Amino acid sequence: MIDPTSPPAVGVLDQGAELTFPPGFRWGAATAAYQIEGAAAEGGRTPSIWDTFSHAEGRTVAGHTGDVACDHYHRMPDDVRLMADLGLKSYRFSVSWPRVQPGGSGAANAEGLDFYQRLVDELLGRGIEPWLTLYHWDLPQPLEDAGGWPARDTAARFADYAQLVGDALGDRVRYWTTLNEPWCSAFLGYGSGAHAPGRSDGADAVRAGHHLMLGHGLAVQALRASRPDARLGLTVNLYPVTPASDSPADADAARRIDGLANRFFLDPVLRGSYPTDLRADLASVTDFGHVRDGDLEIISTPLDLVGINYYSRHVVAGPVEGEAPQAYWRAPTCWPGSEEVRFVTRGVPVTDMNWEIDAPGLVETLERVHREYTDLPLYVTENGSAFVDAVVDGRVDDVDRLAYFDSHLRAAHAAIGAGVPLRGYFAWSLMDNFEWAWGYTKRFGMVHVDYDSQARIPKSSARWYAEVIRRNGLAAQ
Ligand code: FCB
Repeated sequence: MIDPTSPPAVGVLDQGAELTFPPGFRWGAATAAYQIEGAAAEGGRTPSIWDTFSHAEGRTVAGHTGDVACDHYHRMPDDVRLMADLGLKSYRFSVSWPRVQPGGSGAANAEGLDFYQRLVDELLGRGIEPWLTLYHWDLPQPLEDAGGWPARDTAARFADYAQLVGDALGDRVRYWTTLNEPWCSAFLGYGSGAHAPGRSDGADAVRAGHHLMLGHGLAVQALRASRPDARLGLTVNLYPVTPASDSPADADAARRIDGLANRFFLDPVLRGSYPTDLRADLASVTDFGHVRDGDLEIISTPLDLVGINYYSRHVVAGPVEGEAPQAYWRAPTCWPGSEEVRFVTRGVPVTDMNWEIDAPGLVETLERVHREYTDLPLYVTENGSAFVDAVVDGRVDDVDRLAYFDSHLRAAHAAIGAGVPLRGYFAWSLMDNFEWAWGYTKRFGMVHVDYDSQARIPKSSARWYAEVIRRNGLAAQ
């Protein structure tokens, strides 16, 4: 007899030879405002830290900026039609803070809000569930000038902004993500300086991480009070962290990086405390004096769901004199207090970002969050890969990207079979876009964008994904 309280075994979800996902599984794609919208100085929008950063000398590859990006601001109805053609059930987008609240405080900008109202109406009109992210890294520049995320007041400004967006869109948007990947905002923005605002100070990065979470908690409280029916969560980018060998030094390196990359956010948000070992690792960087009484209660305000972005795994080793590989976000300054840890490459296939392709890591990550932290519904709010694409006779046959999606969806399915309450999956990204410090040189889209003509071409992966959505599953291998 099947015990209805026990999680379904993989076989229960299989119909025939196919891998079928549970009914109602939310299939989507994701984007972010600064990466696609363009129209940087239109409709009352003022600069964010990403405008300032990308316009500064030498910060992005070839000096690329998001001034025009995919011109989505002007092409939005066509882009929503494209989503409908692909059969998307859900679309995760972010709201540009400086578009709807220029300067980051005070009254709403009606013209900016109008863009998102029209977007939401277009989506709903085509049967696509809007999934709104409040903060995907575009802090209004005046808030950075006042101290940015290392300053406590920024958390309060964020809660006000959340309230403002909630008031405008809460009647039609059910799913809300407060922050996208606070690790990147804190440790790339204020630690390594690879991302806006480009500052490099370990203590500031740690403070920024705390105030981001504080802003998240305050925003959840504000939205919960005004929109009791909203489904609220945040999105963290998580990595399995594996020691390069079974030596104690490598095990300690893995513990440290897991602390900074994963537990720094998971523990306060889902357990209401910072890990003791993380505090000890950071002792030379900060005394945590920025954490005030009551903060952790706010930060751990109950949620309805957790969003997880998954791309790759970290393999790490303890220090070896004279060796400290530095690559993009793995630069030692990303890891305050653990600068000596080495990131090891194993020689397995990588994407165009040089990120190792590791689908089993997705199962590990989802199972870990469920086992160690929460019974809440989980969503993969981003997963995808950059590869070099070629347009041949008007087609883009992106076999590598398609294989990446396929292997990670099989992993997602296996996680469900193992009892993880995974309720949806958002491919990153709907279309090629401004990949932050890499500008337009890295393509993650299922839809190809010609940045001169702004023509969109659905790649093979997009057509394949449409079929996955249609059958709510994957063909047998
Ligand atoms: C994530 C970001 C997203 C995109 C992908 C490739 O870290 O959330 O905006 O850049 O990586």
